[in-house]
Amino acid sequence: MSKATGELSPAAAAARRIAAERPRLEFGGAVWDYAPAPEATDHVRLARRYDLFVGGEFVAPRSKRRFATINPATEEPLAEVAEAGAADVDAAVEAAERAYRRHWSRLSGAERGKYLYRIARLIQEKARELAIVETMDGGKPIKEARDVDVPLAAAHFFYHAGWADKLEYAFPGRAGRTPRPLGVCGQIIPWNFPLLMAAWKLAPALACGNTVVLKPAETTPLTALKLAEILREAELPPGVVNIVTGAGETGAHLVNHPKVAKIAFTGSTEVGKLIQRAVAGSGKRLTLELGGKAANIVFADAAIDQAVEGIVNGIYFNQGHVCCAGSRLLVEEGIADELLAKLAWRIEQLRVGDPLDKNTDVGAINSKQQLDKIRELTQSGVDEGATLHQSSCPLPAKGYFFPPTFFSGVAQSHRIAREEIFGPVLAVMTFRTPDEAIEKANNLAYGLSAGVWTDKGAKIFAMTRRLRAGVVWANTFNKFDPTSPFGGYKESGFGREGGVHGLEAYVELG
Ligand code: NAI
Ligand code: MG
Repeated sequence: MSKATGELSPAAAAARRIAAERPRLEFGGAVWDYAPAPEATDHVRLARRYDLFVGGEFVAPRSKRRFATINPATEEPLAEVAEAGAADVDAAVEAAERAYRRHWSRLSGAERGKYLYRIARLIQEKARELAIVETMDGGKPIKEARDVDVPLAAAHFFYHAGWADKLEYAFPGRAGRTPRPLGVCGQIIPWNFPLLMAAWKLAPALACGNTVVLKPAETTPLTALKLAEILREAELPPGVVNIVTGAGETGAHLVNHPKVAKIAFTGSTEVGKLIQRAVAGSGKRLTLELGGKAANIVFADAAIDQAVEGIVNGIYFNQGHVCCAGSRLLVEEGIADELLAKLAWRIEQLRVGDPLDKNTDVGAINSKQQLDKIRELTQSGVDEGATLHQSSCPLPAKGYFFPPTFFSGVAQSHRIAREEIFGPVLAVMTFRTPDEAIEKANNLAYGLSAGVWTDKGAKIFAMTRRLRAGVVWANTFNKFDPTSPFGGYKESGFGREGGVHGLEAYVELG
């Protein structure tokens, strides 16, 4: 929808026309207009109903339960998806266990690598369709799905394909000894980077010789199911990857399954702690990638315009649904007024609206629940006395949207300075000395990422050494690469994903 006038864009108008001609979709007692893929009928094939992917086949859920996944930009359903119950998770784990024992664990690394290369190539071939589905199901701007999520997903498979036959070189001091795989891995992923998180999880697990049961998030299951189609096309042996859709209950069945050797989880700190308790004493391996509240630190000697771009990218990228988002801005006092004036101007330039429009900068908030959380925390900022700055952009009438927002005059005790908002809301604080910046940056229980902006190389090194964060960016932000390990300190979780370090989570070294 055109944000200024409320008129439909040509693509949205076409989508509406097509929708009127489509059959209606029924589930859960409700009857909905079937929402087709806007501007995408040529590129996107969405089934009206998706089954579970178990043992290389799409199978109906034994639970007989299904749920709708909606497009958060239109609030209309896209497809009906299976909700895996305990028996379904059990079948998936059994399939993974069989595939591990009979096939995957016996293949040479070079053979495993060939499958991973094939998957990577197929992701590239289907990049356009995957990007559109990702944007429709989750609300992120198409330019991000197209330029970040999908190419990086392919890159993770390419990168790990290269490791599959070189694992004996991955761990120094162990030359010539091939690390052993763990067995069946249960992987639970969030809704902010659905396809990319599937790739982060699957690629290293498979490269190391494990088999997998993957559970996508309930609001964004579609690209994982599209990936299942790709896995079939790549002729990955049945059962090597199984995909069970569902919500927290499905995830809990997977966590508690006795035949699962390892759990890899990305999501909220709250659920991460639940999972940690659930696997305690079970002998299961565990990696957790949880929340964050990163400090993005700007010194007076930084290139200010560049820093403003980095701040914008740090917090408004993917609507701020980013665990490593630069959600706390620490700015050196002397430049605070100038920088905030520039930031206020800059957020007015951001286009908020139809995620399928390639000029959109900020798309839809992923769910009603998340929108409510963002609104509630934003209100707390106002109530606690911080000063609200919000883009005046009009928001589409339908769908879940929130304008780019920042708060100045924030105290460290404010909720907006302490809690993960996971939305396009930035808390700005000031500092006078590097010590004060470090003290403020490190004073939370989170420790996932941080940023430093300065033109002094020595200052970058001095700061990064003292920041308790798994990833520290210097004069940039939110840059990702499969060769680089990613993960947190403290309540942001443990274990690393990506790079050579990420392999360790999927092998037995003893
Ligand atoms: P969540 O942690 O509930 O969801 C993440 C995944 O865990 C989903 O696949 C979900 O189905 C699954 N899950 C939920 N309960 C489970 C359980 N008991 N056992 C096993 N799996 C379970 O996150 P939610 O509720 O969607 O978002 C709430 C907040 O969490 C957000 O506002 C944000 O602050 C944070 N979050 C952080 C993420 C990150 O990347 N660090 C990703 C998603 C959310
Ligand atoms: Mg959805």
